[in-house]
Amino acid sequence: MAGSRLIIIGVSGPSSSGKSTLGRLLHHVLPKSFILYEDDFYKPEEQIPIVNGELDWDCPEAIDFVMLRSAVDYVRTNHCLQDGLYSKEDKNALGKPPVTLEEADEIKKQIVGQNSEVDEIKFCIVDGFLLFIDEELTSKLDVKLLLRAPYESLKARREARNGYATLEGFWQDPPGYFEKIVWPGYVKAHKHLFVNGDMNGDLTEAAKAQDIRTASAIDLHMSDLLRWALKTISQEVNKP
Ligand SMILES: Nc1ncnc2c1ncn2[C@@H]1O[C@H](COP(=O)(O)OP(=O)(O)OP(=O)(O)O)[C@@H](O)[C@H]1O
Ligand SMILES: [Mg+2]
Repeated sequence: MAGSRLIIIGVSGPSSSGKSTLGRLLHHVLPKSFILYEDDFYKPEEQIPIVNGELDWDCPEAIDFVMLRSAVDYVRTNHCLQDGLYSKEDKNALGKPPVTLEEADEIKKQIVGQNSEVDEIKFCIVDGFLLFIDEELTSKLDVKLLLRAPYESLKARREARNGYATLEGFWQDPPGYFEKIVWPGYVKAHKHLFVNGDMNGDLTEAAKAQDIRTASAIDLHMSDLLRWALKTISQEVNKP
């Protein structure tokens, strides 16, 4: 697409780390942005692995990475979402956002200024819990943001949620699902990205070499996460 620049931003992290909240705030403050949801690439329920009698929605085998990679390739070539890429993600309520749209506008003004060149750039925000475990997919993203939060906060936020829209209907966590399936799945898929496998510690040199970024503090308010994300995006925008 001549004449316009496209930057693809991956927003990843464990369930309830704030990906969809941050993604929607970024979409609000970046006028030419659109969102691609990894959750739209779930396989049908009959192909979801079963672990100890429970459906495991949190493992890499549950996602069709071939289709997801090709959707990102389509965005790279065409600067828009594939026609008819139907999103059921918008059916998932996010609750009252911890940052209002007015506050988000103010933060954006502080970080990138008004009438910035950022407003002329197209951004695709990819929202997904498994974006940095498949190097072929990771390498297609320009900015790679890995959100984190303390285990207890993630567990409390997840348990406060009603459930998730699926291809077949609606999913509600059975008791103990976060500690038995969700958190172990996140750790298994991501521990190689952290020094000594410490999920609250530093990224390894190999992860940093892939340009994966994580905020220095693990328990940031959404307003600080938005600030950090916009700073990291600005660095990409200003790259020579
Ligand atoms: N940094 C934060 N501070 C306070 N509340 C937060 C923060 N991040 C997320 N939340 C709250 O946690 C809940 C879940 O957030 P969100 O839906 O954005 O997470 P997610 O990473 O998209 O999760 P999932 O992978 O399950 O879709 C929301 O109610 C949101 O307001
Ligand atoms: Mg989400």
